[in-house]
Amino acid sequence: MPLEIGYHWYMLNDYDRNEAYRDAIRRTAPGRIVYDLGAGVGPMSYYALTAGARRVYGFEVDRHIYPYLRRLTHDFPNFVPLRANALRAALPREAPHVVVCEMWSAWLTDWPMVQVLNRIRRRVPKVEVIPVRGHHIVQLVEARHRSGLPVRFAPGTEAALFGEPHATAEMSIPALAAVTDFRRQVAPIDSVVELIPLTTGTVNAVRLYSYEEVSAGRILPRTGTRTDELLRWIGPIDIRRGSRVRLRVRHRWDTGLRVRVE
Ligand SMILES: C[S@@+](CC[C@H](N)C(=O)[O-])C[C@H]1O[C@@H](n2cnc3c(N)ncnc32)[C@H](O)[C@@H]1O
Repeated sequence: MPLEIGYHWYMLNDYDRNEAYRDAIRRTAPGRIVYDLGAGVGPMSYYALTAGARRVYGFEVDRHIYPYLRRLTHDFPNFVPLRANALRAALPREAPHVVVCEMWSAWLTDWPMVQVLNRIRRRVPKVEVIPVRGHHIVQLVEARHRSGLPVRFAPGTEAALFGEPHATAEMSIPALAAVTDFRRQVAPIDSVVELIPLTTGTVNAVRLYSYEEVSAGRILPRTGTRTDELLRWIGPIDIRRGSRVRLRVRHRWDTGLRVRVE
């Protein structure tokens, strides 16, 4: 059966991402036990193995992708591929020194990255994690489409955008709403952000996106596959230049991302 590599192809070609992770892994993996959680076709496992990790465990839940990952065992006898859900599967007896968890998405909503890392950290509190932090941004926008259809979007629903720069008009300056530090247990967030309107007009959506800090101080630019973002429909509400808007964001890091204008 042919294997579908799908979006993994774009990640393999994301030079900035791969370079940042490879550098961080090269510094931490030599001689150590590494877990690669959400390993995909295996680039992070490969970086750890070629850096001289003692053993690498690669967890991947997707059965279509897993056969690619498993092939790394041909060249690396110290690689252990696991077709497993990292949230629930029995963990290897050998505890990790380093965890690489590249399950990135806007506000970490696509994959259970925070829950998986919290799980590992409960078992190994001092484990090193790559990436070290996430920076989560919100912005008021006017979402628009060009079909001509007078469609109404229900508040609370959302669209995932992937490199569509004209889908939104920016209505406020973007603001940092939350930072997740993966070097400790990550708690749910409940934060209020004051947004500065750029203009007077009507807002019908909040745009949410995230930057990953792969190693301390190295934040990835939002290029290539890092451009994914969420549009969450609200209101609509009228805003005025000079009059700030308070936005409350709550996120339980599972299904529970909530956004409300106060
Ligand atoms: C953003 S992709 C990154 C893949 C790979 N780490 C890379 O850097 O190319 C996230 C991967 O995590 C996997 N994944 C998501 N949830 C998972 C889970 N609970 N357990 C194991 N793998 C999971 C997905 O199937 C997907 O392959």
